[in-house]
Amino acid sequence: MTTAADQVLKGLFSEAGLDDPYRYYAELHKLGPVSLLEGGAGYAAVVTGYEAADQLLRDPRFLVADDVFSDELSGPEWREHPLLTVLNNSMMYSNGPRHTQARRLFQQVFTPRRVAELEPAVGRLVDGLMDQLAERLAVDGEADFMSEFAYPLPSSVVAALLGIPQADLTWFRPRVERINDFLDVVGKTDEVLAAADQATRELSEYYRTLIAERRKAPSDDLISQLVEAVDAGLHEVSDDDLICNLLVLFNASFVTTIHLIGNGMWMLLDQPELRTAAATPAFVEEVLRYEAPVQFVARWSEVEASLAGTVIPPKEIVLVVLGAANRDSERYPDPDAFDARRVDVKPLSFGAGPHYCLGAALARAEARIAFPRLLERFPSLRSARPPVRNPQQFLRGYKSMPVAT
Ligand code: HEM
Repeated sequence: MTTAADQVLKGLFSEAGLDDPYRYYAELHKLGPVSLLEGGAGYAAVVTGYEAADQLLRDPRFLVADDVFSDELSGPEWREHPLLTVLNNSMMYSNGPRHTQARRLFQQVFTPRRVAELEPAVGRLVDGLMDQLAERLAVDGEADFMSEFAYPLPSSVVAALLGIPQADLTWFRPRVERINDFLDVVGKTDEVLAAADQATRELSEYYRTLIAERRKAPSDDLISQLVEAVDAGLHEVSDDDLICNLLVLFNASFVTTIHLIGNGMWMLLDQPELRTAAATPAFVEEVLRYEAPVQFVARWSEVEASLAGTVIPPKEIVLVVLGAANRDSERYPDPDAFDARRVDVKPLSFGAGPHYCLGAALARAEARIAFPRLLERFPSLRSARPPVRNPQQFLRGYKSMPVAT
């Protein structure tokens, strides 16, 4: 048996849905803020209403999919996979004390002050990448904005934050992408998992070596501070936990911010009249609302739980569609219009509640610094050919974006 929402989800998880998920979200909104699913796809319900999504993410009954859930779902076999072990040991996929311990440790060192201190370095990285973009434009007459700028910026910034040498990033990026391939809502094949497992092994070893080096010779980077805090014994976090969290933090930072930068740039190329607003925080918030880089998160509950009048069965995955919540007409008038003058924009693009994105301030800072500088340096930047979509459903953005001056 299938429900009306199952039918819509089928369309959403197709080529047409990749191209334009918003028409499917509009269909789901018509069915209500929470819809039950019967037809497989691995989800018991889909949440699209803004209030319902916000409420669910803050509700302690709803948990991220952790080791307990993995045991329920597939037995203990997941422990044989380095990737799944790392994910389940990280704060992003833990609940209760394990989550609190790791989150507190990272919050102790990854403070708003540290983000503010990093801003000049972000500016320098933006300038360096703009030099490369200018060179490519001069040599080839056009350049791919995604590969020349949007992809390298976030990984360079998180590397600067953590203390990973910039020269190591060419080794790093393909491994992070193998992990990312497995995290999509569709396409979790054995081959994809095997490649992600191998990438996890290699990245874990890399972090283990870096931790040992920083323990011997501390620097002023985040890894040194994390190691110092762990060694001070104030947090019940081991080196293994630290590695899992560093791996997940790098990944979470890199694959998401790319699309904030790419989606914002596309708005500026496609609607040049928006350029006067590009330096305002409101522009960045509207980009985040309009095209959430992370479209979905997931939760489950040990017990039957009612949400917005719908009873959600226990021990089943609930799909929370952040991209749909941000386009809920109950929350935002004319939600499908991009309007950088909106007030009271609080997109759910960074989630909400205990797992609210740890790097939200850093991602916003990168965008706020990058857009005006790009427009100042390349005032006549234009789209050379239509951009190509990133093929992943859960990360909304572009794979390539040819630009010219
Ligand atoms: C535009 C860029 C970004 C977007 C859209 C984004 C989105 C998100 C979302 C939706 C969550 C919540 C996941 C959930 O509730 O299940 C999250 C969590 C997280 N993000 Fe981000 N993120 C971005 C950038 C960053 C950056 C720059 C960093 C690190 C420097 C980062 C690190 C994390 C971490 C560690 C978590 C897990 C927090 C926890 O479980 O307590 N993110 N992010």
